[in-house]
Amino acid sequence: MAARFGMIGLGTMGRNLVLNVADHGFEVCGYDRDAKQRQIMEDAGKGKPVSTAASSAELIAKLQTPRIIMLLVPAGKIVDAVINELVPQLQKGDILIDGGNSHFIDTERRYLALQDSGIHFIGMGVSGGEDGARFGPSMMPGGNIESYNLVKDILEAIAAKAEGEPCVAYMGHSAAGHYVKMVHNGIEYAIMQLISEVYGLLKNEGVTNEQFVELFADWDKGPLQSFLIEITSVIFKKKDPETGNDLVDMILDKAEQLGTGLWTSQSALELNVPLSTIDVSVSMRYLSSLKEARVAYSKQYNHQNKKTGVAIEALKIACRDALVFAFMIAYGQGLELLKKASETYKYETDIKTVVKIWRGGCIIRSALLNDLFTAYEKRPDLSNIIGSPQFVEALKSKRSAVVQFLKTAMDAGMPAPAFASTLNYFDAYTLAQLPANLIQAQRDLFGAHTYHRIDKEGIFHTDWDYKPSDVE
Ligand code: 6PG
Repeated sequence: MAARFGMIGLGTMGRNLVLNVADHGFEVCGYDRDAKQRQIMEDAGKGKPVSTAASSAELIAKLQTPRIIMLLVPAGKIVDAVINELVPQLQKGDILIDGGNSHFIDTERRYLALQDSGIHFIGMGVSGGEDGARFGPSMMPGGNIESYNLVKDILEAIAAKAEGEPCVAYMGHSAAGHYVKMVHNGIEYAIMQLISEVYGLLKNEGVTNEQFVELFADWDKGPLQSFLIEITSVIFKKKDPETGNDLVDMILDKAEQLGTGLWTSQSALELNVPLSTIDVSVSMRYLSSLKEARVAYSKQYNHQNKKTGVAIEALKIACRDALVFAFMIAYGQGLELLKKASETYKYETDIKTVVKIWRGGCIIRSALLNDLFTAYEKRPDLSNIIGSPQFVEALKSKRSAVVQFLKTAMDAGMPAPAFASTLNYFDAYTLAQLPANLIQAQRDLFGAHTYHRIDKEGIFHTDWDYKPSDVE
């Protein structure tokens, strides 16, 4: 029997997705240039409706029409190379799905390039790592709705389920799917940075790894309930088999990245959306990786963190509430960016649907998404959750916890840039008068850039009576 679904790229993610598709009763064929990967696939797929192909031509011959082929290959040039190899062998109506972390600009280019050929192109974000791929990821497909409808039954079957509903839905036109996944990753960076800042300060005050196991497990039962909090608790339990020490203490403090956080910040700058918590989280990955310089400067400035000795139980509560506050702001920033991008690029992305499919399977799944869903259901045009009646009381009441957290961090000499940035973002966004009038005056003085007035309409320029002082 011809296979219903084809997969190119049988690395761990591709292989696990093949097994997931097969487990739901669909016949699947996988292709990888590497014979070893094909063998691993065949072994893992024994007893399931799984076959392999040794070339793209063989894969295409083994598929039902219209053919559905998903690519799980490294983002970038390889995606183009695979598409170029496939296209001459495909027919009008066939569907290509790029399931990697491709840049949305590349996806838009590929989508447009394939339009005349009648071959459908779906750019689809897939989240949830290896386990997600195997047992239910969250998937964010974009492109044309007709092509989505042709693959919907398979995607809904293999997706994670949240309250019985599949964590996959149509995200919008063109590159919407990869844009949504990119924003997902930006929020992921922010949440991870925030958790690490809490860890840093509490560790500085004497909280042990054993206590962290309990603390994070406890937080996972309340408003912070989320995948990232849950795995943090698990991490503190793990011993290093070589030394017997806690593994977390043996890991070098240089955070790496594949680039999706950077793309989120770049896009936000281009679309003029303030995204400061996410920006600083990307920046801190770079700063953390400057380990050698940090070690040298710490000696030069004799900068050592010091224990403040604050009441630890009160600090733990402040940390928890500060995290609740900052999680809300991080999602809020990401969703505001998504709304602006959807308007600018005409994706027609429905934010409440995005929030809904992030509730299961993905890395940023959390209890908070249920509240976000209600907020966007009530007000689909909401720009930022700061304006949602649903969040006003929580943000108001938790702000003081962030202040308390930051005061302690500063006393301790522990950096907390994501929290500082979050608080400043919130304070700036909720303050009617900012000192930006002075910036406008300066721009007008040195560049005649003009300004608006508070008392009348129009554009104004002033001769500021300034004469440059002589350079000595
Ligand atoms: C997911 C993740 C995943 C991402 C990794 C690594 O949703 O499953 O976002 O797609 O690639 O988390 O990202 P960084 O290397 O950039 O941290």
